[in-house]
Parts: sequence; C-alpha cells; structure tokens
Amino acid sequence: MEIQLWREILEPYALAVDEMSVKFNHIIESYRKAGMYSPIEQVTGRVKTISSILEKAQKKNIPLESMEKSIEDIAGIRIICQFIDDIYKVVDLIRNRTDMQIISEKDYITHKKSSGYRSYHLIVTYTVETLYGPKTIHAEIQIRTLAMNFWATIEHSLQYKYKQNMPDVLRKRLHNAADAIVVLDDEMSSVRGEIMDAQNSFNIRANIVADILTNIQNLYKVANKREVVKIQDEFFRIYESEDLKQLERFNKELDIISEGYRAQSLR
Ligand code: GTP
Ligand code: MG
Repeated sequence: MEIQLWREILEPYALAVDEMSVKFNHIIESYRKAGMYSPIEQVTGRVKTISSILEKAQKKNIPLESMEKSIEDIAGIRIICQFIDDIYKVVDLIRNRTDMQIISEKDYITHKKSSGYRSYHLIVTYTVETLYGPKTIHAEIQIRTLAMNFWATIEHSLQYKYKQNMPDVLRKRLHNAADAIVVLDDEMSSVRGEIMDAQNSFNIRANIVADILTNIQNLYKVANKREVVKIQDEFFRIYESEDLKQLERFNKELDIISEGYRAQSLR
C-alpha cells in the first residue's frame, strides 16, 4: 500500500485518539474543579505505527483488506489510575457513555496474564466525522494503576530488547516484580482513605485560592485601589497561616463585598 493511502486510512484513528484524550482529560478536570477526587489520574493515547500494524498483520495472518476490522488497537488510549478500585469506576463511567460502545472486555487484573501483566482492557467502537461522513472505528482502552503501568512499561522494553528470547532468569524476576506490584497496589488501597483526605483538602484549598484571586482581580476593576491592596495583603497573611477554615471565611466575605459592588453597578 502507498504511504499516502496509509495516511488516509489512519487519519480517522488519529482523530479518535485526539477526541477521546480530550474527553478523558475533561473528566479529570471536572472532578478537580468540583473539588472531588478523580478516578482518572492521567491519560495518554497513540495511533499504532504502520510498521507495527504490518508486523501484527503478518503475525496473525490478517490480510491488509480486513486490517481495520481485525486489528482492534490501531487507536489506543491508556488510562492510568491511582488505585485498583478506580479502574472499575472508570470502566462503569465508560459503560454509561453514549459516545463509546464497549464491544469486548478483558480483566487481566483478576486474571493476570502468564507474563505477570495486569490491566483492564476494553475494545470500544467510536464514531468520528470525516470529510466523507461519519466513520465508526475500533479503539482499545487500557486501564491500569500507576504501579501496573510501571511494571508493564519496564517489561515491555525488556520484551522489545530480547524479542522472543528473554532469559528465563529475567522472566522469573519479572514475575517476582509483578507479585510485588500486586502487594504494592493492595497496600495502597488500604491506606487509600488517608491519601484521599490529603489530596482532597489540597484540591479544596486550590479551588478557594483560585476563587479568592478572581474576586480580588474583579474588585480591582471597580473598588478603591488602596482597599483592594489591603484585601490582598490580608489574603497573603491568611494564605501563609495555612488555615483552610480562615481561607473559606475570607472567601465568603469577599463574595459579599463583590456582591455589594455588583448591586451598586446595577442601580
Ligand atoms: P495483541 O496481539 O497484543 O493485541 O494481543 P491480544 O489481541 O490477545 O490482546 P491483549 O489484550 O492480550 O493485549 C493487548 C495489548 O496489551 C498489547 O498490545 C500490549 O499493549 C498489552 N499487553 C498484553 N500483554 C502484555 C504483557 O505481557 N506485557 C506488556 N508489557 N504489555 C502487554
Ligand atoms: Mg489486541
């Protein structure tokens, strides 16, 4: 196939990866803006390279004409979570969406692969709009914890280095490392409550600070400048005290002052 033709074929997949990445990143942002914990920590995506499409087609005896039907991971999204529980939350979240239809799933977490690999895989269909009309494609979504991702990344590069000839000793050590990752994920789940409390108060604080700064900036346009500078100094004082309750109170007071100016300007 000519390179130009490949580009045309792969274009909708690139669009799908871009769109899906934007959507998952917005989920992260929405949670954080609401001061809530996001079950998604990080999202990446890629389109399979022409050479690895060819390699896979050859390995699995797939004729190039049926490549789009048979190779389901030309578009790939990887979702990284902090905790195992989050993975299942993300799966439900995807299940409830109307723009992605799950057509198959593999739970390599409760059934880890013989290599030691763990992850939750979904194959979904997703529709993009192209110059020639809508096109529905397959995409593979891999959902895993940070720890699982760490293992898979290292193991993948070793696999790549040794191809089919990974020494048994190394394979055994990767197995041991995979077992250690299971223990690590379980440990993290058990301290989850505490980790989340810390992160939540961090997010709440970040949101309040952003609110306060917006309020001060708006006041600066309408109020007496010297007053606003005084308010800003007061803010810095409270900010340094690291007292969340005080910050909250200060923000409410600013809201009332801003409200007053708004009422005045409406008269
Ligand atoms: P593929 O031909 O790889 O698509 O196999 P499959 O159709 O049986 O799919 P599977 O769900 O097993 O694997 C799909 C993807 O998961 C792979 O392309 C890898 O990205 C990842 N994966 C699966 N097994 C392993 C593994 O043992 N190690 C690592 N690092 N990644 C894996
Ligand atoms: Mg596959």
